[in-house]
Amino acid sequence: MKWDFKQIEQDVLAEAKEISSQSQLESFRIKYLGKKGVLAQIYASLAALSVEEKPVIGKQANSLRKIIENIIKEKKKTISHASSDIDIRNLIDVTIPGVATEQGHKHILTQTIDEICSLFERLGFVIYEGPEIETEFHNFTALNIPVDHPSRDAFDTFYLEQEDKENKGRYLLLRSHTSPGQIRIMKQNTPPFAVVIPGRVYRPDAVDASHSFMFHQIEGLLVDKDVKFSHLKGLLSVFCKRFFGEDIKMRLRPHFFPFTEPSAEVDISCYICKGKGCSVCGRKGWLEIMGCGLVHPKVFEAVGYRKNAYTGLAFGLGVERIAMLKYGIHDIRLFYENDKRFLVQF
Ligand code: DAH
Repeated sequence: MKWDFKQIEQDVLAEAKEISSQSQLESFRIKYLGKKGVLAQIYASLAALSVEEKPVIGKQANSLRKIIENIIKEKKKTISHASSDIDIRNLIDVTIPGVATEQGHKHILTQTIDEICSLFERLGFVIYEGPEIETEFHNFTALNIPVDHPSRDAFDTFYLEQEDKENKGRYLLLRSHTSPGQIRIMKQNTPPFAVVIPGRVYRPDAVDASHSFMFHQIEGLLVDKDVKFSHLKGLLSVFCKRFFGEDIKMRLRPHFFPFTEPSAEVDISCYICKGKGCSVCGRKGWLEIMGCGLVHPKVFEAVGYRKNAYTGLAFGLGVERIAMLKYGIHDIRLFYENDKRFLVQF
């Protein structure tokens, strides 16, 4: 069969002029490029041609196909939705209410950390974060915690298999408190300075309503000349009143920590019973919220400070414990379970 390519091209151009809608364009496409369209027939006829004719006809067919494809491409651009046969307004109901995206918010622990840190920032402290993988030197030795102290035992600290190169042969560990941050700050800076160090800490405790193998602490450290215990008491009572409320009372109870001397535990009057005694405070009227003290001279010695050159105060609090007291949460596990019914309350 001989094809009159000139004639076909003329027909194509003439028909193209008439196309003004998407359905017309689609019929045009099917007529020429469809499975049984003109071009398909031309290509099918190639088989019967001689070896000389085949490339000649093939070439003409290819250029015809290009012309048609270009027409379709151009027409697609110019045919607007308005001229299409489908009225888009019938497909979309613009009156249906939209799907609102839910907005998230900070986890209650992050909110509590932010609130405590910004309270101390307003008192002139800066925020520092130390590493969660620590050396025995930072976590224990420099803090005057003796080699035979029970907290060094593998039952109370997570040791890693990685060796501590700095310490030659001893193992690295997951910090069991944020106090090693004190050592890092003191080594890197010359007093005076005041920092708060928030972060995760790890202990191999069996999980129950008040214990978790991971929890959060905030450490505080201020080093200067002539820092006194009265500064510590004043600072912490301002913190307690601003965080728990003006009518809260605070007391310091003598205690022991190896890295402070003297040391104390901080209690606040029970916010539920106002000190009368209830089930939350175990009928004592007081709730323990943190440990504190004046930096032990042995700690200054460990970081290489000259003897008697500086004095300092330190404190450390558990974020979960404080959040549980403030918001009346009875089970520490609720913080970590990602249950939306719990999280949306804060
Ligand atoms: N590191 C102590 C702990 O985890 C808490 C602590 C107590 C920190 C007294 C201090 C401090 O800085 O002075 O139990």
